[in-house]
This record gives sequence, C-alpha cells and structure tokens, in this order.
Amino acid sequence: MTHSAPYPPFTLPQRQLGLSVSDAAPSGGAVGHLVFTGEEPPAASGLDAARVAALGFAPEPGKTLVLPGAESVVVLVGAGDRANADAAVLRDAASHFARAVPGQVDLALVLPETAVPDADAAAAAVEGAALARYVHRIGAEGPEARLDSFTLVAGADRAESLSAGLARGEVLVRATKLTRDVAGLPGGMLTATRLGEVAADLGAKAGLSVELFDEDALVELGCGGLLGVNLGSVEPPMMIKLVYRPEGEPTGRLALVGKGIMYDAGGLALKPGDEVHATMKNDMTGAGAILGAMTALRDLGCTAQVTGYLMCTDNMPSGSALRMGDIIVMRGGKTVEVINTDAEGRLVMADALVLATEEPVDAIVDIATLTGACLRTFGTEIAGVMGNDAGLVDQVKASAERVDEPVWELPLAQRYRGELDSGIADLRNMGGPNAGSITAALFLNEFVGGVPWAHIDIAGTAQSGSAVKWRNKGTTGFGARLLVDLALNFRVPRGEP
Ligand code: BES
Ligand code: ZN
Ligand code: MN
Repeated sequence: MTHSAPYPPFTLPQRQLGLSVSDAAPSGGAVGHLVFTGEEPPAASGLDAARVAALGFAPEPGKTLVLPGAESVVVLVGAGDRANADAAVLRDAASHFARAVPGQVDLALVLPETAVPDADAAAAAVEGAALARYVHRIGAEGPEARLDSFTLVAGADRAESLSAGLARGEVLVRATKLTRDVAGLPGGMLTATRLGEVAADLGAKAGLSVELFDEDALVELGCGGLLGVNLGSVEPPMMIKLVYRPEGEPTGRLALVGKGIMYDAGGLALKPGDEVHATMKNDMTGAGAILGAMTALRDLGCTAQVTGYLMCTDNMPSGSALRMGDIIVMRGGKTVEVINTDAEGRLVMADALVLATEEPVDAIVDIATLTGACLRTFGTEIAGVMGNDAGLVDQVKASAERVDEPVWELPLAQRYRGELDSGIADLRNMGGPNAGSITAALFLNEFVGGVPWAHIDIAGTAQSGSAVKWRNKGTTGFGARLLVDLALNFRVPRGEP
C-alpha cells in the first residue's frame, strides 16, 4: 500500500557565492580584522588596545567586536597568539566573524600573513565563513543566513595563491553543504530510492559513474545484511555505487563504504520517542559524506581511483521486520545471528566491505554513525577511528588534523572478539554491554578479508546541538572534508600491522 506523501517539497539549495581577492577593503558590507594577542587593533577601528579592552574585547579566539565604520561595519576578531595561528584558527576566526554580523551578506576579511601558506589560509577562511552561514530550512520560511560575497583583503602579490585557495575552499564548502543537506532531510522525505536519484544526478554532473542496485540486484548479489535490515520497511533498499576515475593511471585505489540508514527506528528493538531519536534521520551521514566528498574529486584533481558504496535503507519495525534471533547470510556467505535489530549499521556495512574486497583495491575506509558508545566516549566534536593497518589509520589522522575534523584512535582489541561468537551462526551482531564502539569495529573487521582498512565512527560528530566554529547547529557534514583530503593525499599502505 502506498500513501500520499504529506511532506513539503524537497530542495537542495545551491546558492552562488561571489569570491574575490582585493588589495583594498571594499566599501559597504562588513570588514573583518584578526587581532592577535599583544598587538594593536587595526587603524580602521580608530581605537587602541586599551579602548577596545574597555569595550569588552580581548584578542582571544571566539571574541569579536562589531564597530560602525565610515564605509562599512568593522569587526575585530580575536585570534590568540600569532605564533599559534594555523589553518584551524583561521577557519574558526572566519566563522566567528560571519556569526558576529548575521545581517551582513557581503563579507571581507583582511587576511594577515601567518605561517599558514596563503592557499590553505584562503581555503580555511572561506570554509569558516560559508559553513557558519549555512542554513537549510525545510518547508518553512525563516531568517536566511545568506552570504552573497566573500572577499579576502591582501596585497596584490598574494592574489594568485589566495584565489586558488578560495576556489579550493568553495569546492569543499559545496561538498560539506551537500552532506549537511542530505543528512538534514527527514527520513520520510529522503528515502533510499530518492537518495539514489540525487546521487545519479549530482554524481553524473561531478564526472562520477553511478550504478544503482535495487532490491532485485541486491538479492542477486546476496547482500543479506542490507536486505535483512530492510525487511521491516515499506521503502525499498538501495545500494549506490559511485566510481571516480582519474585521468591517466591511478596513483592508488581507495574504496569508501558509508552507512546509509535513512531513518533508524531501531527495528523491532524500537528506540524510545525522545528528542535524541529524532536525529536518527541523520543515520545516513556516512553515506552522505561519501557522496559530498566524491562530488569534489574531479574539481580538485584527485589522482587516486575512488569507489564509494552507499548502503541505504531505513530500519523499521513491522510484521515483516527482522526478528531478534534471526540468522541472515551476508555477501560472501558468513552467517550472522541478529541479537539486536538496532545494531543494524554493521549489517548493512558488512555486505559492502565484502564487495569492496572483491575488486582490485589498496585500502578500504568506512564511515558510519555506528555506536552511541562513540558519542558517549568522545562527545560531538571528535570521531573514533580504528583499523587493521597503522599506516592507513595514520593517513586518516593526518587528514582529520589538516581539515579540523578531529579523530581519536581506539584499539581494535582482539581480546574482545569472543563477545561476537554465536552458538549457532558464524557471528552475532552485538557484543557485551561495554566497549560498544570496539566490538562494532571488530564485527566489521570480520568482513574486510585482511585488506588495509580503517573505520571512522561519526555517531557523535554528525550532529551538533549548537553552532561551534565551522559546525552549524544540526547536521554538521562531518567527514566530507576529511574524505576529500584523504583521497587527495592517498598513498598505498605498506601493510604494516
Ligand atoms: N545509529 C545508532 C548509533 C547512534 C546512537 C548514532 C546515538 C548517533 C547517536 C546505531 O544504529 C545503534 O542503534 N547502535 C546501538 C548498538 C547496540 C544496539 C549494540 C547503540 O549504540 O546503542
Ligand atoms: Zn543506526
Ligand atoms: Mn540502530
């Protein structure tokens, strides 16, 4: 039975942002000036350090002071010690600037010379400003946090590298916004089928090859994990396979596997009806981050081949749903006893991990809102990472550091592997009550066949309760910039333990 949808129309806003570099502050709009510890405020403020201190400003990260200027609004933006200014400091400063003047749609930032190369500084600045201004209201009128133009003010000798950085930043902003947009769409509006349509459309525009595997195709492939989780749903499942092929011989082959649970009700292990569970529409953020990241690869000249597997379904309770105690057969033939239908992410991911190992591949990285335990351990600003290859995990850490999407490693502790033993099947889908993030990763490890693999658990970071630096309140798009950086810098792991 199908129902007429009571949902508002579905939009993915694509706003054009004017970017430029100028050697003089434009008139009109707002002009931001970074102020470092122990340094005088800029002449444009008409004030000295004592005066701005009296007005409550300190040159610390997160502090801003908005002043009326003759030609434009002047914003002092605290930036801490000049010696500590890295790309993250610049990104954060730009985000604080953008939030300090919510009514201004034309922003210009005077970009000081720091140890950060100009191209990286420019990219970080536009990321901070544009991501802070992100808004995606669905089916409602509301205050628009628009941003029409963003200008960097710097000497003409720096224009070339700054322009290149702005262009790169804009691509990363687009990737992150796409991830936020799809993750923020409610489960009823963005179904697995609909995400397949979105991926086919946007993927083709970004030069990716897109293959959609519907229910029949998944049966053919024996993807029992994705089919099993989908059993309770009236919405069909979808596996979306995206391939980016660089021009010329690839420098490496990377597979990305994303959890795409369009809405996680818990299945028959129904989640309670509290507010936290309304965020389960974002249980496809891993898949969304891969889609966002992969749409950026051609524009940024990625030389590795990248294949994305987006494992999409919702996880619903119904008379046809997977039961606790059911046994399912995964791609590759392993059997799994389903102890808890709410541990569904690992089931849908396992099929794709196996598929990824069946093609020539140098490394697999998966990304998933996998465990509440990870949210409890690291909060909403740090993701968990685990893997079977130290070199690959190091690549993930290095990318995370560069883009300020922090990760912290947990051990893939084989001592807990026994918790996944089943009396009647090859594995059970849940360990004991403790170390839930680790036992979830141990489950996934059973399906990678020894290929270098890293797992990123973004259960905590996919969503933010408030605006924090580049993060917006709501879906953060965490993972999109990390995966782009990882693909751009990918080196074939040497396979060390
Ligand atoms: N999607 C959830 C994980 C999650 C929880 C993400 C909270 C974000 C915030 C996942 O499918 C889940 O339900 N995991 C269970 C696993 C358990 C049943 C072994 C969990 O973490 O409680
Ligand atoms: Zn889930
Ligand atoms: Mn769940």
